[in-house]
Amino acid sequence: MTNFNDAIGVFDSGVGGLTCVKEIIRLMPHEDIVYLGDTARVPYGTRSRETIERYARQDIRFMEKHNVKLMIVACGTVSAVMETSPIFSDCHVNCCSGVIIPAADAAAAATKNGRIGVIATQASINSGCYERELKRLMPHCEIFSRACPMFVPLVENGYTQVGCPPAEFFVKEYLSDIKNSGVDTLIMGCTHFPLLEDVVGAFMGSGVTLISPGKVTAAQMYDALKAQNALNSPDHKAKIELYCTDSAELFAQNAGRFLGDSVNAQIIQCTLD
Ligand code: DGL
Repeated sequence: MTNFNDAIGVFDSGVGGLTCVKEIIRLMPHEDIVYLGDTARVPYGTRSRETIERYARQDIRFMEKHNVKLMIVACGTVSAVMETSPIFSDCHVNCCSGVIIPAADAAAAATKNGRIGVIATQASINSGCYERELKRLMPHCEIFSRACPMFVPLVENGYTQVGCPPAEFFVKEYLSDIKNSGVDTLIMGCTHFPLLEDVVGAFMGSGVTLISPGKVTAAQMYDALKAQNALNSPDHKAKIELYCTDSAELFAQNAGRFLGDSVNAQIIQCTLD
């Protein structure tokens, strides 16, 4: 049975899932949050399906131990794999969401011309998850996908501003074909990519709607918790715990870039079993 006092759990391969946490804090400021970033093993997006499943099992077990009322799989790569994997069928968290369905819903609602771009990690693109979900929602839509592996290290290293040569170079390299195909909506299907929103937005032009999966998933989960009367009470002071599997100090240095500096969170190093 869901206890409204329990925390919302969010996990990712690293620090990128904090883009989702940021939106949860904005929409649901009274919710406790337990976040896990598997920083010792990031990136997941370049690994085999078997390895991603093995890591995801451990991430889920961690969330189960924290009795969360809702688990959000902020990692686009794990969300992509879980669409067709048995790993979530024996998960003991009541309510669980990946980012694929909310992002596809948002893209289908946003597009006017039925031409949708998808960018993500190699593993997410290989899984075909967005094609399947978008075709289910809009059988006649056209989808233009591209893996953008260099975006993750660019963001990790802070190369995210308009005018920053490496960011501009890789945005042009990866997105030129998608831009030329005339999409009016682009799913930024990886936790890190929303930090490149300004560069990507400037390149694609104002006529293209950018979808941030973490953001739209947080919004869908807000609606779901509200509908179930499962939000914490407005007088509750939220506790935010950010767990990482590598150095807490390194995590803290990077977290500010994703969350902004105003968030008061406890950062704890942990191991997964
Ligand atoms: N969190 C991953 C994702 O959203 C990006 C980083 C990685 O490759 O692990 O796909």
